[in-house]
Amino acid sequence: MNFQWYPGHMTKAKRQMQEDIKLIDLVVEIVDARIPHSSRNPDIDELGKNKYRLILMNKADLADKKTTDKWCSYFKNKGYFVVALDARSKNGMKSITDIIMEACKEKIERDLKRGIKNRPVRAMVVGIPNVGKSTFINSYAGKACAKTGNKPGVTKGKQWIRLNKNVELLDTPGILWPKFEDQMVGLRLALIGSIKDEILNTDELAVELIKFLLQAYPGVLAERYELEEVEDPIQVLMGIAKSRNCLSKGNELDYSKAAILLIDDFRSGKLGKLSLELPPEA
Ligand code: G4P
Repeated sequence: MNFQWYPGHMTKAKRQMQEDIKLIDLVVEIVDARIPHSSRNPDIDELGKNKYRLILMNKADLADKKTTDKWCSYFKNKGYFVVALDARSKNGMKSITDIIMEACKEKIERDLKRGIKNRPVRAMVVGIPNVGKSTFINSYAGKACAKTGNKPGVTKGKQWIRLNKNVELLDTPGILWPKFEDQMVGLRLALIGSIKDEILNTDELAVELIKFLLQAYPGVLAERYELEEVEDPIQVLMGIAKSRNCLSKGNELDYSKAAILLIDDFRSGKLGKLSLELPPEA
């Protein structure tokens, strides 16, 4: 995905979200488990204040489990409800409803005391592009999703997906914008493939990835590419080019090919389950 955000986009997205948030009880915020910090926009805390909050650490299938656990504790300590998941898999979707109910317990009890029964919790999904918002809505809502759209005579405006008698979901997710001003955030978003050809080119991205892996996950590159993990990332990139026979027309080692190969291997999880960020306390 290739996206760019301009002040106009952000203002529009923010205004839309401010309107939508008025209609809901719970914000379901999706982040990428490999970069929970960089894939968040902290403005959501202001936009979603006074709302119940659930953070879904998505693409957990690609992230380092130990790091994901640390992030889950970190967010829990801050008062969020948190679930790590692979939104492509339907497993575990049932437990999401239980957690939503748990997160909104106070409201449900308050309603009951006032004699209000069967008023479902209303929720909306938010997140920056490419974190898996649509995938999650499809997996979670499943058939209910299609039904709503096909009903004749549905009123224009907001569409709600009735998941069960307890939960309704706004059918369009809220789109948050990434915090591009921070260069590290841009780099990490590029590494996971959320932004392309921006911030850095692939050669530079690969060098940054190598530097990170040598320090945070020593041995991973040595094992996958059968090379020696020396300190100089360019030498390591050369090692990858040699190991994978990345050659240019003149039969010379082609660093750019090696860079693309390395980044693809990282993004698709072939280097293993790796996370790029630790929570602040760790
Ligand atoms: P968005 O609405 O937030 O923009 O994200 P979307 O659901 O379109 O998902 C973006 C990409 O991430 C999709 O891949 C999707 O399959 C993938 N994805 C979503 N959730 C998960 C997850 O938990 N684990 C993994 N590994 N991938 C996930 P794509 O390459 O754009 O499309 P496709 O490969 O599904 O065709």
